[in-house]
Amino acid sequence: MDVLAIDGGNPIRPADRPLPSATDPAGRTFGPEEEAAAVRVLRSGMLSGVWGSEVPALTTQFAQLVGSPHAVACSSGTAALHLAVAAVDPDPGDEIILPPISDMGTVAPVIAQNAVPVFADVDPATGNIDPSSVAALIGPRTRAVIAVHLFGKPAAVERLRAITDRAGITLIEDCAQAYLAPVRPGEPDGPLVGTVGQLGCFSLQQYKHVTTGDGGLVTTADPELAARMRRFADKGWPRETGERAYLSFALNYRMTELVAAVAREQLRKLPGVVERRRVTAAEATKRLAGLTGLGLPADIGDHVYWYYPLLVEGLDEAGLARYAAALSAEGVPAVGGYLARPLYAEPVLREARTYGTSGYPLRDRAGYPDGLCPVAEDLVYRRLVVVPWNENYTAADVDDIAAAIAKVHAAVAP
Ligand SMILES: Cc1ncc(COP(=O)(O)O)c(C=O)c1O
Repeated sequence: MDVLAIDGGNPIRPADRPLPSATDPAGRTFGPEEEAAAVRVLRSGMLSGVWGSEVPALTTQFAQLVGSPHAVACSSGTAALHLAVAAVDPDPGDEIILPPISDMGTVAPVIAQNAVPVFADVDPATGNIDPSSVAALIGPRTRAVIAVHLFGKPAAVERLRAITDRAGITLIEDCAQAYLAPVRPGEPDGPLVGTVGQLGCFSLQQYKHVTTGDGGLVTTADPELAARMRRFADKGWPRETGERAYLSFALNYRMTELVAAVAREQLRKLPGVVERRRVTAAEATKRLAGLTGLGLPADIGDHVYWYYPLLVEGLDEAGLARYAAALSAEGVPAVGGYLARPLYAEPVLREARTYGTSGYPLRDRAGYPDGLCPVAEDLVYRRLVVVPWNENYTAADVDDIAAAIAKVHAAVAP
């Protein structure tokens, strides 16, 4: 057996030939189009989306691309989720159900609106929120469910929408990791993620399929929700009336013209980005099929591969950490568990580090003990290893990634 790089052997992918990544030009899709867009805006003299033309053009373009009647622009994915939660307008102490495997940007907006995050367990094959766990948690104070399409794999949003409709509450989709993913693969005109719930939230942060460094978008079919979100991103100011009024509590989450202009060019490239990620991921899956004890992405023609998730059987926490470290040492950056711990185990939530010394709105609740979501804990601590995916991977890159996974799996998996 080849000696692992982590034990002093030769790496499959030496450090002088790194894989393209989201933090370097080789792993991004910036070209003369984005450069021209930025220059166009600078020369216009107008950098604010309040009076400029790029932000309105972006929201029109994005709504069309996703197949949604309205889109609202804002400054980040977290801001997009904050707009969505604010549009739901929970009373203090109301509950919003969400999964514990995501970015904190899914959770923080709930607390910012003084609502309580209630964590549902996840599907062991995908890490996506489990509809039966959601159904069991809905109570009199539940106002919404947030479904995260983790790593680019659509969550069961149609089942969730049936559940939330029955309960008379709102479904928010967190699409930060899943642009253009079909909810009904095989139906060419079927819905895409972000159009099944009442609200769909997207991120343009540096690591996403397309990026402006930071930025966010929210889709909705409901003009009233769209209007509320526009005001929430703009200090409560109803610009469409021409009057200087502040109609409701709100912040400034406005997107700038520079961001919108670059986003418009990035969106033109997005279908190609998704397609190239799908093709190379399918090739990797073909190469890795048959390795004992290795679960590959659950793809039924719907996965858009923000990350390529592996499920390794039979490891303990130390084994999972070694598996990911060994892959990284082979030149394939990998993260064991994706998160250090499920989100509810983070100090901010567990110790209710919120507003002053009050701990509001978390302190009076049952808390977030270990064992709250056993499937999520098993994934994060013992089974899940994620490899960032990239639209610029070549066939040779995929060969190296597959070879590195096979090498590490043979040596580290039980
Ligand atoms: C699933 C998910 N939700 C929310 C966010 C927050 O987005 P942002 O970093 O743009 O605020 C991210 C990414 O960072 C994410 O991956």
